[in-house]
Amino acid sequence: MDTDSDVLLEVKGLRTRFRTDDADVTAVNGANLRLRRGRTLCVVGESGCGKSVTARSILRLIDPPGRIVDGEILLRRDGSDGRPAETIDLAALKPTGRRIREIRGRDIAMIFQEPMASLSLVHRVGNQIGEAIRVHNPMPRRQARQRVLELLDQVEIPNPERTIDAYPFQLSGGMRQRVMIAMALSCSPRLLIADEPTTALDVTTQAQIMDLLVGLQHQQDMALMFITHDMGVVAEMADDVAVMYLGHVVEKGPVDTIFHDPKHPYTRALLDSIPRIGGARRERLSTIRGTVPAPADQPSGCVFRDRCDFVMPGRCDRIVPPPIDLGPERHVRCLLHGGAEPEAEVTTSQEAADAG
Ligand SMILES: Nc1ncnc2c1ncn2[C@@H]1O[C@H](COP(=O)(O)OP(=O)(O)OP(=O)(O)O)[C@@H](O)[C@H]1O
Ligand SMILES: [Mg+2]
Repeated sequence: MDTDSDVLLEVKGLRTRFRTDDADVTAVNGANLRLRRGRTLCVVGESGCGKSVTARSILRLIDPPGRIVDGEILLRRDGSDGRPAETIDLAALKPTGRRIREIRGRDIAMIFQEPMASLSLVHRVGNQIGEAIRVHNPMPRRQARQRVLELLDQVEIPNPERTIDAYPFQLSGGMRQRVMIAMALSCSPRLLIADEPTTALDVTTQAQIMDLLVGLQHQQDMALMFITHDMGVVAEMADDVAVMYLGHVVEKGPVDTIFHDPKHPYTRALLDSIPRIGGARRERLSTIRGTVPAPADQPSGCVFRDRCDFVMPGRCDRIVPPPIDLGPERHVRCLLHGGAEPEAEVTTSQEAADAG
């Protein structure tokens, strides 16, 4: 059983909204997540489910008209690195303020699907990583350069002495991804958020990068929040899993329970879409019927009901499924597994959130 001290980051009831004159989109709608020290949480779901907005909300990288409108993001420093033990609510910090800038990179770092999102084209790799180091640990350039060489070696870049003076455009996609990882690790963060970091790479490079991340995570005892749409990747990486659909965490739990006893019809559908080795030849992979609706068109009741094979008319369209506790750290939001009676009805999860 976990104690509170095992929890590094806790997201409680997070809601992030993009509001413009002609649209009001709640991209993350009451998400609850827990990241344990040194462990991997995989956040999985189809495109548009709110995975990246969740990650960017944690680091307060949501630009207007986006805004966190509700919830807490609790970072627990345990005092092990010489800084005082304290809990900081990142959702309450000023997004451009000194405190969040101190946390970015040092407590929490992020890598993106597209390395060029965090690398500059016009600066040499070594200078970019060196500057990232010097933001949090002022030191002479020569010393920073030494540290960069160590980092390049750690991310298994062949010939660091040459790569350190290269420009990102001179490197292959896989090498750039390694450079971005080196930069993210430069201040030994306690949590690394990896937002689909391998989807732009070929399968072999993808496997190498995943192995590298897992190795580094163990070496550095770092927590990893790994975002993916691929249940195959989840099987390889996760300790814990959170399944997102249309801004909601619809199911979460330890990885073995998610794979052996999935409860939400959406989780089951995602699992059915993994190719199986040894499966009958020509067997068609099942795909999930329909598409994720635009977040502005939230259906009433359960957000997944239009695509669900087990939909219960008169219930699923009228009741927003509450989180149902299935055991330690195990929750599902689906009326098949319990929940309120129609008397308690509310029409959309937006109204439920607004009312609550
Ligand atoms: N800047 C923005 N302005 C308006 N809406 C936005 C903005 N950024 C994201 N959204 C909305 O938030 C929803 C969730 O987006 P998000 O990028 O988190 O999805 P995702 O799960 O990461 O998908 P993918 O797998 O494609 O990366 C999107 O459907 C989009 O409509
Ligand atoms: Mg995304």
